Amino acid sequence: MNAVAENPYWMPFTANRDFNRRPRVIAGAAGHWYTTSDGTRLYDTFSGLWTSGLGHCHPKIVEAVQKQVATLDYCITFQVTNDKALALADRVTGMAPEGIDHCFFTNSGSESVDTALKIALGYHRARGEGHRSRLIGREKGYHGVNFGGMSVGGMVPNRKAFGTTLLPGVDHLRHTLDIGRNAFSRGLPEHGLELADDLERLCQLHDGSNIAAVIVEPVAGSAGVVPPPPGYLERLREICDRHGILLIFDEVIVAFGRLGHAFGAQRFKVTPDIITTAKGLTNGVIPMGAVLVRDEIYDAYMNGPEHMVELFHGYTYSGHAVAAAAGLATMDAYAEEGTFQQAQTLEPHFEDLLHSFAGHGKVIDVRNFGLMGAIELAARDGAPGARGLEVHKRCFWEENLVVRNGMDMLQFSPFLNSDPDEMERSFMTIRRVLDAID
Ligand SMILES: Cc1ncc(COP(=O)(O)O)c(C=O)c1O
Repeated sequence: MNAVAENPYWMPFTANRDFNRRPRVIAGAAGHWYTTSDGTRLYDTFSGLWTSGLGHCHPKIVEAVQKQVATLDYCITFQVTNDKALALADRVTGMAPEGIDHCFFTNSGSESVDTALKIALGYHRARGEGHRSRLIGREKGYHGVNFGGMSVGGMVPNRKAFGTTLLPGVDHLRHTLDIGRNAFSRGLPEHGLELADDLERLCQLHDGSNIAAVIVEPVAGSAGVVPPPPGYLERLREICDRHGILLIFDEVIVAFGRLGHAFGAQRFKVTPDIITTAKGLTNGVIPMGAVLVRDEIYDAYMNGPEHMVELFHGYTYSGHAVAAAAGLATMDAYAEEGTFQQAQTLEPHFEDLLHSFAGHGKVIDVRNFGLMGAIELAARDGAPGARGLEVHKRCFWEENLVVRNGMDMLQFSPFLNSDPDEMERSFMTIRRVLDAID
């Protein structure tokens, strides 16, 4: 078959024509390893797509899903629910920061973000402040690909083709990536706290009373792992409080252990008003997301006649029984295996391995926080992204390693229960590849 011409699958965020010349196809997985259809094993340095911190095909989750699908596959989700969705909402809110006691289910991170933005707008309206319609995101932010998330997001290639159809009334804080001042920082970078004051400036420009919500990733992930300067999130919280603005943490990547805690908010000791999640909620086994909200937000909706729907929003698959069963088994595994603790223990080792690339001639920055890391390569003249993609492909074909590249940024999301030796071997391999290419 001429794969270039005939492959009917239009792949997401993929260089499709390049891919089709030599497709990279996975057929199985167990623990920290993928297998291809010819039986080759590949070590996964990205735990899925930031999703599968417990490892692939975790027996407990597999069993829960098998059992659930044979017991209750699907039930109507409007005006009726299932036992697993109720239990998971209870479980997840029980792990959340104090005061965040309600949970709305979605099927992905993108849906969680758009749901959160709608909940924020509706909350202000319910309180008689419908004029608070402006949303604030941040440059380099990634909040998924739906229209709300794309509009508050700040990834230029994702926005470019839709520039004139993005939501109106959205503004952005400047991003906090400052390689000039912060290159090769271990953990939180020293410089850039003052960038949080962009929010105060936007409040002066638009008047804070017109702003509904600010959404940020506590650590920007897809932009190439950009941790905030110390005090940055606290300052956003203070400014939001001063102006009555809701603070949304997009924790689609960081929730459920990636920063060594159930939620990034707990690691940073800053409590937002809304938290968006997905990925680690089910260890990536079944698509599912959750939006967690403070009581006051939920309560503001609980008005009017009791027979009326309060929030005209939801998905056919909100709180899907099989996904919720996967979520419950995932939460059990995190608790029983001490996964968040394991992640904390691995963090210094991971940091050392990443920063061993600091002196490499092709590396211009290394960034890390929790079990999130990036090695930023110098771009080749006139071909940004080419060097990163070559590392990815060589690792896959020649070294049996799955390495994620976003342009020239190699990104790392190790398993929360990684074996330190496996992790070390994977970085030695990447060094060999980096040495070999131009
Ligand atoms: C912070 C953040 N928000 C939202 C999303 C979108 O999630 P999904 O791809 O599940 O729609 C992602 C995906 O990586 C993300 O990292």
